[in-house]
Amino acid sequence: MDLPVIDPPIFPRWVWIEEITYSHIIIATVINTLVLLAPIYEYIGLRRQDPRYDRLARGFVTFSLILFSPGAALGTGIPMWIMGTYPEFWSRWANLFFWPLVAQFGFFLGEVIFLFFFYYLTWDKLRERKPLHIFLGCVAATFTLSVQFVWDALGSYMLTPSAALPMINQPVAWAAAAFFNPGFPFLFLHRFFGNLSYVMLLAGGIFAVGALRTKEAEQREYWAFAARVTFPVGFLAFFAMPLIGWGYASVIQQHAPVAFHAIMGGHVSPHFTVKMVLAGTMVLLGTVWLFAGKKHLWLRLMVTAGLLLTLLVFLAHPPLRALTESRTVWTAGLAAIFTALLLFLWLAAPRLKDRHEFWQWTKLAIGLLAFSAFLIGGFVRERSRSPYTVYGEIVKPEVVEREADRFLFYDKCLGCHAPGKLKKPQAEDWRERIAIERRRPELDLTDEQAARIVRYLEDDSR
Ligand code: HEC
Repeated sequence: MDLPVIDPPIFPRWVWIEEITYSHIIIATVINTLVLLAPIYEYIGLRRQDPRYDRLARGFVTFSLILFSPGAALGTGIPMWIMGTYPEFWSRWANLFFWPLVAQFGFFLGEVIFLFFFYYLTWDKLRERKPLHIFLGCVAATFTLSVQFVWDALGSYMLTPSAALPMINQPVAWAAAAFFNPGFPFLFLHRFFGNLSYVMLLAGGIFAVGALRTKEAEQREYWAFAARVTFPVGFLAFFAMPLIGWGYASVIQQHAPVAFHAIMGGHVSPHFTVKMVLAGTMVLLGTVWLFAGKKHLWLRLMVTAGLLLTLLVFLAHPPLRALTESRTVWTAGLAAIFTALLLFLWLAAPRLKDRHEFWQWTKLAIGLLAFSAFLIGGFVRERSRSPYTVYGEIVKPEVVEREADRFLFYDKCLGCHAPGKLKKPQAEDWRERIAIERRRPELDLTDEQAARIVRYLEDDSR
């Protein structure tokens, strides 16, 4: 398809699209989470007759409304940029999802109308009719979540497309198979819990530090309260992530194997490892905080359950080659580490000195760690399918030979070989080795593909 592709004068086009989408997504995820939680906190306030919850809910909504304009403005930049710089992708993709895109426009309008006119502006007027007011907040939250629902369907399609991307001259407008692609429920849930987790951890951290720094007693008490009722929500929500992530990874393995190889040992595995280290550090700091301060027993029990769930996911994972090859060592090692951690948490941590100021700053650090893990997660998903914009369907306009060769190599060779371990025998060159490999009946390579893989591997081993 020969559509004119615009070249930006500075920075490659992917840098621009990444910056525009990222800045939008950060704002959108914060708004989504706050709008979703506002009626819940308001309801708790009503049940407990505690006005602080009401103040918090109202603060969430006010803050969301402040963020709304920049969020929406950045959102409009995304299709503009894609139309000019990825025109074929846009034409075909928007063609496949025309009706969902129109529906999300309707949801978005519904969100604006309910959030501003019926929820925010009526806060004082409906003071005597709280259940109605909370209901209006729930309607706003449902619209908000519906917008996310549509975008996650469209986004997940790009990695696990289950229906062909139509041509520009095929006005499909809607395909259930594409919308409900295999990755969709996992991406949606992963985003849902991920947003809840990072936004609440960050909010809790900011409230905690705010409480430390303010001189006014009433304000300090309120911020300390706000930190108490937000931070643990974010921390508990996190423990859904390993399980959903595991499910998502196995769907990717099945439906987008090259992206899976890219993440598990391939070219995005360093980024993925950084993400895991950030998340791991965050969990460790958070659990120690939770046990050190003698928090509620039910919180400690739930975090223990979360840790055990995480252990199960790790146990199901094959041994990390960088550490060990043996399944027994892997299982025993993990069991030992988790047992030591749980013993420390239940026996030693409660006796740690409760250094108040230190822990408030640590909460902010935990929020920032969660935020960074969230950012890298999106980056990993995008990078893993490169050079494809939609996996196996359309490549980006700036695709370079090497990236296309790498995709082919992952696709053809990594079903049997682990990426890090593929070593060429000393005595052969790659051309000879590929010739030997081509005798395997499972490996179906044209001469041109074989030459490209040789080129990639020769380049790589230089
Ligand atoms: C159907 C599975 C399969 C596929 C696909 C496959 N290989 Fe192999 N390959 C093997 C097996 C099994 C061996 C080890 C047995 C042997 O030495 O012949 C091997 C051996 C090798 C070796 C020798 C070093 C070693 O690890 O033993 C290299 C290098 C290699 N393969 C590269 C490739 C490349 C490059 C591709 C993609 C073009 C590829 N293989 C595709 C199964 C496969």
